[in-house]
Amino acid sequence: MEQLWIKGERRLQGDAFINGAKNAAVAVIPAAILANDICIIENLPYIDDVISLSEAMNELGVKTEFLDRHTLRIDSRNINNFQAVYESVKKIRASYYLLGALLGRYKQAEVAFPGGCNFGVRPIDQHIKGFEALGAEVIVEHGMIRAKADRLIGTSIYLDVVSVGATINLMLAAVLAEGTTILENAAKEPHVVDTANFLNSMGANIKGAGTDVIRIIGVEKLHGSTYMIIPDQIEAGTLMIAGAITQGDVKVCNIIPKHMESVTAKLQEMGAEVIEGDDFIRVRSTGRLNSIHLKTLPYPGFPTDMQPQMSALLSVAKGTSIITESVWENRFQYMSELKRLGAQVKVEGRVAVVEGVERLSAAEVSALDLRAGAAMVVAALAAQGESKITNVQYIDRGYEELEVKLRSLGADIRRVQVSSEKKVPRQRILEPVLEKKII
Ligand code: EPZ
Repeated sequence: MEQLWIKGERRLQGDAFINGAKNAAVAVIPAAILANDICIIENLPYIDDVISLSEAMNELGVKTEFLDRHTLRIDSRNINNFQAVYESVKKIRASYYLLGALLGRYKQAEVAFPGGCNFGVRPIDQHIKGFEALGAEVIVEHGMIRAKADRLIGTSIYLDVVSVGATINLMLAAVLAEGTTILENAAKEPHVVDTANFLNSMGANIKGAGTDVIRIIGVEKLHGSTYMIIPDQIEAGTLMIAGAITQGDVKVCNIIPKHMESVTAKLQEMGAEVIEGDDFIRVRSTGRLNSIHLKTLPYPGFPTDMQPQMSALLSVAKGTSIITESVWENRFQYMSELKRLGAQVKVEGRVAVVEGVERLSAAEVSALDLRAGAAMVVAALAAQGESKITNVQYIDRGYEELEVKLRSLGADIRRVQVSSEKKVPRQRILEPVLEKKII
């Protein structure tokens, strides 16, 4: 088991380069199934979710090969299996995209109920409703979701909730359907747009991604494509907050500042100095920031995936902050861990009241899920003493070498092996792949 040990109260300073977006990567990789050709996906983050997903694709007969750490070649010409079993998808929530992609291309798919982060009920009724509207029969039994159709026929689908996953999954299922599909009340997240752009680069006809009405005119087939995915807005936001909480000066580079607007606005409201360039944002702060009120919302609102890291920052702000989580019903579980670091928090349903304290104090805390883990790292960077963060595997699902980036900014952080049970370092998983000659 690995832990992150962090000696806090070091001011972070310098440039941090942001990797490709996890939530775009986990949609774009399965989307390549639709091509019956070779796709090259560039700028992928080298994280456990991407590795697990490419392994799950191999089980279907797709050939995936890392050409280098951030580039994946996907050959979907020889798919011979339409079933993704629990063993291969249990670690990845986004495995549900295999359903839309397989259904879209083969009119049949069987995928085990997804795993992934644990913060309450994570229904997929809107995905199923959409598949059915397109003409599929969907049965959920024995932990598997089975979808089958003779033909998929475009139609109008109104999503009852704004769902990133349902929007993307229904685009995947509809690109090769007959006729036109209209998705109403669609999600507008940058990774929705990125997936649509990738599909269009393969010959799909999708218009309106990034607005709440997406129009998909079915095409007969798609072809291979080389595509570079967008930078990760949540990794960028996490490092911006790491800069702010250590009263530092951090420039996040290689990003799309437009995607960061809600985070930038909140940091400015708190009193941080935020300087924006074409592809970077620099965050400077020289003292304790002010409290604010915050509500998570679908894009372009404040992202739920930044809520835990922002709560960590607010825990040392001057005054009382009120945080409302409106996307997930149970995303404050990590507050118990934040309290162990000295935060003063009261949670009442979907609302948390954070009374800013002058200083956090180091403790051993657990990363309860991916972003909760990121929040622990951010809080520990500001805490007095040495904190130990357990369950680091959750953080590795979504951040590529977070500790290396933080160390280069001046953090005192190290990854420590604490038991005899050795995890194979991720570099070793990649090496044999890179040794092979790539044709
Ligand atoms: C995506 O999850 C992200 N994951 C999540 O990021 C993120 O928190 C979430 O969107 C919201 O932005 C990926 O992109 C892989 P949703 P997703 O469907 O698509 C309800 C991270 O930390 N809902 O947009 O699964 C649902 O309960 C992860 O990187 C239904 O009711 O989320 C929730 O309240 C964690 N029925 C809301 O909609 C459905 O069929 C939004 O969920 C689907 C969703």
